[in-house]
Amino acid sequence: MSQVSPLLIAQVTDIHLFANPSKDLLGLPTVKSFHTVLEHLQELLPQPDLLLLTGDLSQDGKLKSYECLQNWLTPLGIPTYWLPGNHDQPTVMEQVLNQAPIFPQKSFQAGGWQFLLLNSAVCGCVHGHLSPESLDWLDCQLQRTGEQPTLISLHHPPLLVNSKWLDRSTLQNSEELLKVIDRYPQVRLVVFGHIHQELERKRRGVRYLGTPSTCIQFMPESTEFGLDTSDPGFRLINLYPDGTFKTRVERVAFTHQLDMAATGY
Ligand SMILES: [Fe+2]
Repeated sequence: MSQVSPLLIAQVTDIHLFANPSKDLLGLPTVKSFHTVLEHLQELLPQPDLLLLTGDLSQDGKLKSYECLQNWLTPLGIPTYWLPGNHDQPTVMEQVLNQAPIFPQKSFQAGGWQFLLLNSAVCGCVHGHLSPESLDWLDCQLQRTGEQPTLISLHHPPLLVNSKWLDRSTLQNSEELLKVIDRYPQVRLVVFGHIHQELERKRRGVRYLGTPSTCIQFMPESTEFGLDTSDPGFRLINLYPDGTFKTRVERVAFTHQLDMAATGY
C-alpha cells in the first residue's frame, strides 16, 4: 500500500428528505437521522476531502427538500458532488445544488483519481436504466482518462444483490455498463446506493460497493420488502494515487420506532 496521503471521500446516500422536516419514512424521521450522520461526519479526523451523494437525496423531490440539503451541507465547506436516484427530481436538483461547495459536475479529478457520475434514474420508475447517451459519455470519458484510476458512481446497483424484491429494481441494462467497464482497466471502483445496506462484490478486478442509507435500512438477502434494525450509516473510502484504496462503513447510533409492518416504501 502506498504511503502517500490518500484522498478521503465520504459516500452519503439515500437521505430521503422531505420538504416538511417533521415527516417520517416508515417511522424514521429522515431529517433527524441525517443530522445525526452530519454531526458524526463533522467529528471525523481527518475530515473528508470530498462528499459523494449517490441519490434519493429527497423523498418527495420538492424544491424545498433540496434547499434544506444545500443549507445543511454548505457550512461543512467540503466539496460535494451528487447524482439523482429514483425518488429525486433531477431538474429541480440542478436548480438548487449548484453553488460551491456543492458542484453539479459529473466528471472531475481529485487526488489523482478520475470521478465519473452517472444518472441511472428513469422518470416514474423505481428501477434504473442508463441511456445510450450516458453510456457513450462514459465511454468517451474513459477513453480520455487513460490510465488514471477511476471511480464510477450511480444510484442503482449494476449487479444483483441476492434480494428478490430489490433485484427487480437494480440497473436493468447492467450488461451494457459492464461491457464498457470491461474495456477500461483503469476502473477500480463502482459505488452505488438504492439498496440501503452494505454490500461488497468483486468482478474482474473491479470492486462494487453498496452503502447503507442515512435513514431506513433494508433487510439483506430478503425475498420480500423488509426493514432491518441496523443503524443509519455512510461509507468512507481512502483513495491512493496509485489506484489502491481502503474502505469502511460507519454506523451512527439513532433511536427510533420503525413501522415494521410496512410492506413497501
Ligand atoms: Fe433509497
